[in-house]
Amino acid sequence: MAIQLNDRYLSGFINPSEYSSMDPQIRAAHTMLREKSGAGNAFLGWVDLPTNYDREEFERILVSAEKIRKSCDVLIVIGIGGSYLGARAVIEYLRSPNYNLVRKNTPAIYYAGNCISADALNEVLALCEGKDVCVNVISKSGTTTEPAVAFRVFRSFLENKYGKEGARERIFVTTDKAKGTLKQFSTEAGYETFVVPDDVGGRFSVLTAVGLLPIAVAGIDIRKLMEGAAHAAEIYNEPDLMKNDCYKYAAIRNILYRKGKSMEIMAGYEPFAAMFHEWWKQLFGESEGKDQKGIFPASVVFSTDLHSLGQFVQDGSRTMFETVIDVADVGSTFPIPEDPANIDGLNFLSGMDLNLVKRMAMQGTVLAHVDGGVPNILLEVSERSEYVLGEMIYFFELACAISGYVLGVNPFDQPGVESYKKNMFALLGKPGYEEMRASLEARLKI
Ligand code: PA5
Repeated sequence: MAIQLNDRYLSGFINPSEYSSMDPQIRAAHTMLREKSGAGNAFLGWVDLPTNYDREEFERILVSAEKIRKSCDVLIVIGIGGSYLGARAVIEYLRSPNYNLVRKNTPAIYYAGNCISADALNEVLALCEGKDVCVNVISKSGTTTEPAVAFRVFRSFLENKYGKEGARERIFVTTDKAKGTLKQFSTEAGYETFVVPDDVGGRFSVLTAVGLLPIAVAGIDIRKLMEGAAHAAEIYNEPDLMKNDCYKYAAIRNILYRKGKSMEIMAGYEPFAAMFHEWWKQLFGESEGKDQKGIFPASVVFSTDLHSLGQFVQDGSRTMFETVIDVADVGSTFPIPEDPANIDGLNFLSGMDLNLVKRMAMQGTVLAHVDGGVPNILLEVSERSEYVLGEMIYFFELACAISGYVLGVNPFDQPGVESYKKNMFALLGKPGYEEMRASLEARLKI
């Protein structure tokens, strides 16, 4: 097993009988998911996606990735939320958070359309000056404001630089297979298009073309990623939570939630995982935070954040639990050098691998936080690789679905996301929103 759940540090917070009482609820959630009888059952395409995906499109992704690698210095990935977080998480996890700075034979990848910032957009545009550029715009709806604005900008940038014909060869669109204006526009313009499947929501879409095209451009083996996910789909299809760590994780979250632990902190010890935490936060936050319920997902990278948030985790309000990701083999070592002057008094560490120091920091922190009243779930991950990351992605997607069903929400919708959009459109004067605008403006002037 590449991912092992270690519950040793939960013994003071959960007693074994609580697992037994959670068992029927987990089994019911399992049945709802497998028989597609639960809420949001039109969005379960991700469940068997690792084995049941469009092979022809997968080959086209590989061909396009190769074309992008050969024809550009820079790929701009335009998308927001589930339409970009997965790709960025995987690229930074497997390559580096400094991917654009390290020496490589793959294009730099910049992200646009994931915020509303003139400064950010200007900066990415400036980074493209003098470079050969391709664009992958990713939007299921095709009308989300942030990516739509960025696509206007970069389409015109490419058309000015290469002409309409040249731009056509450099624009890759990932969107709905039939619906929506982006699909229609792309077909008319002759762009290469990829599909966001109807039955896969944005935050569950990293293993579709949404994530796979940018990931493949970064030189990551997407076959191995899919194989890892397929393995996870096979081994976590077991209704007994005591034999299924994925379901056990979902059960533990709900047991702790019912005891007032309303915040989960994902704690990693590797900066390369920071964006993976962001992906995880969207997955759980958007899936569970509804009907006035849900565990707030937060994240930290230790030991960095032990020097900022450590005090709060150790000693602040006791509303949280931690899920600690422990990657055994990160793929590199670093022996600590000897200092003849020993000015810092740390020569007892000389020659020691930094990974060992990290391990002791982690074990010390887990014990300290448990002593401070913070339940700690340990997820022990064997290595940093495509295959194992594929397993992790599936592990969390499945755990999220099961946990959401146990919580009693529809894990596959996101009605709350619309509220800010409606207000923003009204305030911006979108036709049809006149009445709402007047009432919002009155409130803003109070
Ligand atoms: O998970 C989700 O559904 C959202 O985060 C969407 O992915 C995000 O809002 C972007 O939507 P779209 O792909 O339609 O532009």
